[in-house]
Amino acid sequence: MKATFQFPTRILFGQKVIEDLPDELKSLHGWSALVVTDKGLVKAGIVSRVVEVIKTAGMKAEVFDEVSANPTGEQVEAGALAFKAARADCIVGLGGGSSMDAAKAIQLRIHHHEPLRVYDDLLGGDCKITGSLPPLAAVPTTSGTGSEVSRSAVVTLRDVGRKVVIFSPRLMPHVAVCDPELTYGLPGRITAETGMDAFSHSLEALVSKGYHPMADGIALRGIRMVAKNLPIAVTEPKNAKARQEMMMASTMGAVAFQKGLGVIHSLAHALGAVVGVSHGLANALIMPHAIRFNAKAAPGPLADVAAALGVTGKQNGDSAAEAVEALLKRIGLIDGLAQAGVTEEHVPSIVEKAMEDGCHTQNPRPVTPQDMEAILRATM
Ligand SMILES: [Fe+2]
Repeated sequence: MKATFQFPTRILFGQKVIEDLPDELKSLHGWSALVVTDKGLVKAGIVSRVVEVIKTAGMKAEVFDEVSANPTGEQVEAGALAFKAARADCIVGLGGGSSMDAAKAIQLRIHHHEPLRVYDDLLGGDCKITGSLPPLAAVPTTSGTGSEVSRSAVVTLRDVGRKVVIFSPRLMPHVAVCDPELTYGLPGRITAETGMDAFSHSLEALVSKGYHPMADGIALRGIRMVAKNLPIAVTEPKNAKARQEMMMASTMGAVAFQKGLGVIHSLAHALGAVVGVSHGLANALIMPHAIRFNAKAAPGPLADVAAALGVTGKQNGDSAAEAVEALLKRIGLIDGLAQAGVTEEHVPSIVEKAMEDGCHTQNPRPVTPQDMEAILRATM
């Protein structure tokens, strides 16, 4: 048996650690930052707070706030131009997964000049990421994606006609600054959906194929933390402990999924691409059905999941799925995919795109197109 393990990200964690961001940038030889973010965070006042922190430390900061929910190649090019116009020497990715991913792609763009499609991981683009990259600090403002510790960026490229994953260990942020206070303003629904993304990362990592006991341990603890704290964070948005635990569970989920993901993420990616269903909601709704599908293939890990969710009777895939359904009810995610706009005519293309997605190759039970369709239909 051979395996490679890597847990390298420097993580600053806790209330008000955002105030330590300038020192982190300076230690990376950054004095002039481009803050990559979206307009929602500008409106919420979070961008001005972070810019003030940077400027108060005697540094320069310019804002690029053109990132959309699914960042595009055009936005990445515009961000790279903004970096040059500002004479910036470091980047702060501030926001959810979209802003952090866009920041990674902009970081790549500064010294890598071939068309972005050349860096597509599906085409072996990681080998082309060889030049230097400016320092990047990732500052999450949601608890779900974990992009602050992951090594990929997802960008929609018009000339390719799909979402492209750019993957390289070099894209990993130099530092993750995780301040739970930045999530206090998130509405309950977004807290619930993003929180279930964090849950799905830990769940899929735990049951996925492969040997990674360290990731398994992190994933199981992450599941316990979400089960306990997500319902509190949804109903009490300023509960410091719950927000703290959710932010940590989110980071842990993304550390754990270096082991692999599974069928839930393949379907969620396809649902996002075909119908625009939000990533966290798709993961949440698929989860109980995927757990039942995997029940016999991963009985040990799913018994652990049931225990982590507080099941005291028989601990197995079925009871884990029921416990997830109870959690979804508690956090108000009770709609089906039909309510999210998925119709009968979407089914073939969702199944096709989900089969093309690489995540399910790590699922503990092999997934056929018929299986994919059955899980999708159960979720509708
Ligand atoms: Fe995810």
